[in-house]
Amino acid sequence: MYSSVFGGITTDQSAMVIPMDDHMVHRGHGVFDTAAIVDGCLYELEQHLDRFLGSAKQAKINPPFDKQTIKTILVQTVSASSCRNGSLRYWLSSGPGDFQLSPTGCHQSTLYAIVIQDQSPPNYSGIKVITSSIPIKPPQFAIMKSVNYLPNVLSKMEAEENGAYAAIWLDQQGFVAEGPSMNVAFVTHENELLMPRFEKILSGCTAKRVLELAGNLVKEEKVRGIKVRDVTVEEGKRAQEMMLIGSGVLVRPVLQWDNQVIGKGKAGVVTVSLRKLILEDMKSGPSTIRTAVPYV
Ligand SMILES: Cc1ncc(COP(=O)(O)O)c(C=O)c1O
Repeated sequence: MYSSVFGGITTDQSAMVIPMDDHMVHRGHGVFDTAAIVDGCLYELEQHLDRFLGSAKQAKINPPFDKQTIKTILVQTVSASSCRNGSLRYWLSSGPGDFQLSPTGCHQSTLYAIVIQDQSPPNYSGIKVITSSIPIKPPQFAIMKSVNYLPNVLSKMEAEENGAYAAIWLDQQGFVAEGPSMNVAFVTHENELLMPRFEKILSGCTAKRVLELAGNLVKEEKVRGIKVRDVTVEEGKRAQEMMLIGSGVLVRPVLQWDNQVIGKGKAGVVTVSLRKLILEDMKSGPSTIRTAVPYV
């Protein structure tokens, strides 16, 4: 763990603590992001860092360091952990100070980072999703990755209570939005890859990368085109393929949404091809996408 409160990295689990008077703890005034560690490289660190700093700006948190310093700290934290496969999660907070609502008593914003070792083998099997009855966050809050994940947690719990993997949010207009920690995409009957617009949901780094990599499938004529636009529930439910996309799930086929079986009820060609492309990209993509960790 790295903490700017003690100004260093520790591998002692009992020292991995944050102060109770940090406003991220008792007021939720903090933002976070996560990057995957794959074979000793941080995947899409730059892209996650840009989103992280964007979230901080929207939450009016002035980071304690510039982007390059934060990046160096994050890479050093992974290096100190010796972890080669897992994830790196990091937070910016308005910092410790008092127990008021206003952050004016917080004299220094804080940066925390933690390395999480992968424990279980990846699971790419098809899953069931339901429509979330927990309301989606309003756009102003949905587009930033703040620590206020209560709606996301309740939505995930609702899915689990109903034998599903995730609950899908619809936006305020009733269009398909996203899952509690992932984006969604479809393959239409016209064989087009279709993703909801990012204006009212989190701009997923994995989903954006999938859109880039999907160009290969257009060239190979596995899909006819790529569209990012509003998607109705009806259109989504009668799609040929549906998938969840994110740093955690990567690309995972959805076989059933509520009572509706999607397509033929098994993983589709496009979903499987996109998962292959993202896995290859994680292992051997360009240096703009992969940051090698200099382990000691
Ligand atoms: C609400 C939400 N949507 C989408 C995503 C997917 O984003 P990414 O691909 O950057 O992990 C996440 C990831 O944490 C998320 O929390």
